[in-house]
Amino acid sequence: MSKYIGILTSGGDTPGLNAAIRGIGKAALKKYGMHVVGFRDGFRGLMENRTMSLDGNSLSGILTIGGTILGTSRHKPNKMPVGGKILDMTDVIVENYQKRSLDALVCLGGGGTQKNAYHLFKNGLNIITLPKTIDNDVSMTDITFGFDTALGIAVDAIDRLHSTAHSHHRIIVVEIMGHRAGWLALGAGISGGADVILIPEIPYDLDSIADSILERKRSGKSFSIVAVAEGAISKEGSGKLEAAKQELEKTRSKNKKADIKAKLREIDDQYTGNTTLIAKELEALTGLESRLTILGHLQRGGTPSAADRLLATRLGTACTEYINEGTFGVMIAAKGEGTEAVPLDKVVGIRKTVPPDHPWIQSARSIGICMGD
Ligand code: F6P
Repeated sequence: MSKYIGILTSGGDTPGLNAAIRGIGKAALKKYGMHVVGFRDGFRGLMENRTMSLDGNSLSGILTIGGTILGTSRHKPNKMPVGGKILDMTDVIVENYQKRSLDALVCLGGGGTQKNAYHLFKNGLNIITLPKTIDNDVSMTDITFGFDTALGIAVDAIDRLHSTAHSHHRIIVVEIMGHRAGWLALGAGISGGADVILIPEIPYDLDSIADSILERKRSGKSFSIVAVAEGAISKEGSGKLEAAKQELEKTRSKNKKADIKAKLREIDDQYTGNTTLIAKELEALTGLESRLTILGHLQRGGTPSAADRLLATRLGTACTEYINEGTFGVMIAAKGEGTEAVPLDKVVGIRKTVPPDHPWIQSARSIGICMGD
């Protein structure tokens, strides 16, 4: 009997999502004779039973298109805004899945999606996931799709900023996405020839950065490119954040888990994303004019790179094999040339950050890039 599968995309969109939907859909239809339905706008659409048919026609011509044809949202099954309240809608979702007699549900997303998908798996759904995000911070996979495209966009931007920085003898600070991980800023900074790279994993000191820029000036280079991850944090900020976290830990038994989480997020926001300040301070410390460019959502837009199309297709098609053999509660990870089904409990709750001794960091230091410390 042919199987019925659902697909949804959740969290921030990334280039390559449509390539993945196409890979899953076409392999499911052509190789296994399965029926495929798409849920609109992530877990929200699953809860509201809003669907889109995924057949030969709708799966055609989407490989090169950015974003997701299904739409996405950041809504969580167990914390869904409904009628002005935040409600646990898990039961409604389980009911919708059953009403449609689904044999499997494929969830495409980053760290948050893996967690929400795992929640549904524990509530009895046959869940299988794929890792996508421009941040590359999902654990247990070599890489996530979307990262390579965003990397290319950020490198192209740094290339362009170089000529204007050079012409005006300026410092140009460029803010790069990546949430609380430094993969994107580090990769783009090295590939784009940045002189300073600041990532969340290595707290920075503005005086050291200013010294390295002045040293460049003394050697005849009157401009500098400073690539800053949006989650970068100063040494001072990192110390205060740690102290605030420890203080909150002491009250853990008295306060609700959600309140502590919200408070931590608030403190975190206070000390990260200070690129405007970085640009101003570096100008004051070096006497060199400085400008700030925030790349923002440009990094998530447009057509996926060839590497992302290939990765998304590879993971998408492998996913149908696992569905066919009945393997669920797993994320299909990229491992070398192949794929691996990693149990979701090994994926959720762990953010893959850049290890301080990572080869990319070693290479950056070897060629004289200032890492801010
Ligand atoms: O996770 C992808 C990402 O683009 C992060 O790099 C960024 O911090 C975040 O999403 C932005 O989210 P939103 O699009 O909801 O503003």
